[in-house]
Amino acid sequence: WGLEDRKNELKALTKSCGIDVLSEIVCRIKEFTPKFLIGKGKVEEIADLVYRTEADVVIFGSDLSPSQHQNLEESLEAKIVDRTQLILNIFATRALSNEAKAQVELAQLEYLLPRLSRMWLHLSRQHGGAGMKGPGEQQLEVDRRRVRSRIIKLKKELKEITQQRKLRRSQRKKGLIFTVSLVGYTNSGKSTLFNSLTDENIKAKDQLFSTLDPTIRKIKLSNNKTILLSDTVGFLHNLPHHLIESFKATLEEVVEADLLLHVVDMSDNRMEELVCDVFNVLDELGVKDKPIFTVLNKMDLIDGELERLRIARKFEMPLVVSALKKTGLSELMDRISGFLNQDTEEIELTIPHTHMNLVRQIEAKGTMIDEKYTENGVYIKAYVPKMLKFSIFKELQKNRPKSS
Ligand code: GTP
Repeated sequence: WGLEDRKNELKALTKSCGIDVLSEIVCRIKEFTPKFLIGKGKVEEIADLVYRTEADVVIFGSDLSPSQHQNLEESLEAKIVDRTQLILNIFATRALSNEAKAQVELAQLEYLLPRLSRMWLHLSRQHGGAGMKGPGEQQLEVDRRRVRSRIIKLKKELKEITQQRKLRRSQRKKGLIFTVSLVGYTNSGKSTLFNSLTDENIKAKDQLFSTLDPTIRKIKLSNNKTILLSDTVGFLHNLPHHLIESFKATLEEVVEADLLLHVVDMSDNRMEELVCDVFNVLDELGVKDKPIFTVLNKMDLIDGELERLRIARKFEMPLVVSALKKTGLSELMDRISGFLNQDTEEIELTIPHTHMNLVRQIEAKGTMIDEKYTENGVYIKAYVPKMLKFSIFKELQKNRPKSS
């Protein structure tokens, strides 16, 4: 990641927060200083810039320690925001579900806790004699207690929500529906692809992190099979590790998926680095070995077939699409169908009328070749997923009279 890329990312994140950029300044740091992170001369330079531009906020592209934060705020006389805070702000405005909201609040409080003492420092300085607790300290204790008990409550809530989600997911697995998850770098076009494939109108804006909630929809493929498609939160270069942890539940859909569609913005000149970043996160989630299709998106922004081919050659069997213009989507659906077919087997049997639920499952998840209603039950010839075949025969075996 070059300087320009990092600057652009920080600017995009800032824009996503609804903040206008008045000016930018690059600090080449040989050695980080404990007091300000940057050198004293640079602090003076920024202070001058703040004065001249009348800026309210100074955003740092790195993370700051609680004391650096406080020292900078005092010296620059402006609100200081570091990279983690900026990302958390974006997450907070985009969080929709209770789970996402709780996760963001938890991450924000954990970020705030070590910074609380600094916030009350001014009051401590004003009052409180030797051995006495001044209003600053008292207020600090109250605040710390409040924040800690809120953190405990949120963690408990999140545990419950995650368990409920696991239950829902395992029920879905029992239904044996094939699950496909969209993954990719933020702004690569996942939500747009999700919309185009599902015709659902969820948020798709030219803003980073327009989706925080995993959104799931059922879609029917051309061979009449149903799959579940889920959209996930976008990955980000160098996402602070503590944020990855707090958003793990959001990415759990990825862990549970049968197939991943890795959406890549082929018009981005940092494409290869971004792909690497995504793979690093997938590795951290332990899902790097899952089947993954690379979907090269925004083909409409690439001039000429030759250039498209040149980019596509860098990947193994990529699908080239434009989620926005809805091109290449049927090839994508066909590839998913083909993948599903690899895992299916032909069955031919008569299902007793007492087991109409099995007939419905075959209709939903398999491909019917023949279906006839007979006196003894429903005669079926179909292709079904191996796992479904197994569970159908097990179910029928269980209910068969002992003598037969
Ligand atoms: P996050 O939610 O931040 O992770 O983003 P995302 O990956 O879901 O991206 P999103 O679908 O929100 O798209 C980001 C921007 O790219 C939007 O302005 C889309 O209109 C645009 N976009 C998406 N697909 C295409 C495409 O095929 N062609 C062009 N030209 N623009 C696209």
